[in-house]
Amino acid sequence: MAPRVADVVNADATLIQRSAWSDPDLYALEKVAIFGKSWLFLAHDSQIPEPGDFVQAYMCETPVIVVRGRDGRVHAHVNSCTHRGLPVCRADRGNTAKFICPYHNWTYSIEGKLQAIPQARHLQHAPDKSTLGLKAVPRLESWNGMWFGCFDPEVVSLADYLGDMRWYLDAFFGRFAEGVEFVGSPQRWVIDANWKLPVENQLGDVNHGPFLHAAVIPPEANAEVFERGVSAVAEPGHGATFRWMPEDAPVESVAWGFEGMASLLAPEVHDYLREIQARAAERVGPARARMKGLTYGVFPNLSFLWSNTAFKVSHPRGPGRVEYWSWSVVPADAPEAFKKILRGNHTAFFGAGGILEQEDSEAWMQQYVGSRIDFAEDRPYYYGLGLGEEKPHPELPGLVSVTANEFYARHFFLRWRDALLEAERDREAERDRDAG
Ligand code: FES
Ligand SMILES: [Fe+2]
Repeated sequence: MAPRVADVVNADATLIQRSAWSDPDLYALEKVAIFGKSWLFLAHDSQIPEPGDFVQAYMCETPVIVVRGRDGRVHAHVNSCTHRGLPVCRADRGNTAKFICPYHNWTYSIEGKLQAIPQARHLQHAPDKSTLGLKAVPRLESWNGMWFGCFDPEVVSLADYLGDMRWYLDAFFGRFAEGVEFVGSPQRWVIDANWKLPVENQLGDVNHGPFLHAAVIPPEANAEVFERGVSAVAEPGHGATFRWMPEDAPVESVAWGFEGMASLLAPEVHDYLREIQARAAERVGPARARMKGLTYGVFPNLSFLWSNTAFKVSHPRGPGRVEYWSWSVVPADAPEAFKKILRGNHTAFFGAGGILEQEDSEAWMQQYVGSRIDFAEDRPYYYGLGLGEEKPHPELPGLVSVTANEFYARHFFLRWRDALLEAERDREAERDRDAG
């Protein structure tokens, strides 16, 4: 029997049933309630600078093409031919004048209009092509060069959806005069785990660092996290963790992301980092200049690892499988040598074979296995660490606490619960109508 949503997450989200990560009915509800209604990250401007440039993306399990039209505007279409459903675009990225389906060569403009049906010339009655274009993603908006799509035409604006999370994201984006670049195609791989497991980890689970990653993260770095670590929930489901350095910290100690590998960096890279940091207060203000980022999450499935400049999306492939995408992100105006080091850092730590990624993936797979075992329904997972200790803060938006507080996960699951409860009510009302 399908679990009742109200029984899966308790009222304060301190206890969560294992089925949240493994039940097929809950996954079906997630598709409607979460992926059908949320803004989902698709692409960054830097990937599609010229007319005709395109990249592939996914919205849950639905393949999407993001393309810059001839007029310079960005479009997003479902990558599925209106004749028999084949993908009309097979390359991960590229530049094209049109999309041609391989099966019967129906041909679409890059703006998604059906232009040609080759069979029509042999027939007396040609169909109305104006109704047979690719399905457009109904809402498409960008913020800071990041494009998001939503299947719900009624969704609030992207700016409102991100809310105070923009303040935290801008602590990174706002540091660079020329913005950032997403480098090449993402690394992509499949993990036998539920999609929420990577999300929750990146949203705020700083706690596992000294334990799961004991062999990799040096003790000084862990000590700094305990001493200076801050966890913030900008809005339920959106969160940021960072070390908040003292106002008089030397520029070098705040230079983001390279504390573990400073000795590997060439002098010009140190110079670039110092220069960025020295101008940070003027660009993003004093509070954000002191932030030395760790991990971020944007509801439902976008993650940002500031510490290794990786953007990640957790694409569901059923309740027990996730296709994880990871991009290296670099400041657009950085020296080439620095961009190369950042790409190497991303791959070494958080790419498909990254050392921290391997340790994390193993934990997520094991949590998924633990979420499916029999005879353990009376032992839901405990999410109560730090209950009620989070507070508003005079300088930081949202609710704020130490990184050991699991409030980031409770807020995520309360949002998840509310969304699924509504979908469950709608589904039951529909069943009643059909039955009556
Ligand atoms: S399936 Fe695309 S042209 Fe027939
Ligand atoms: Fe980790």
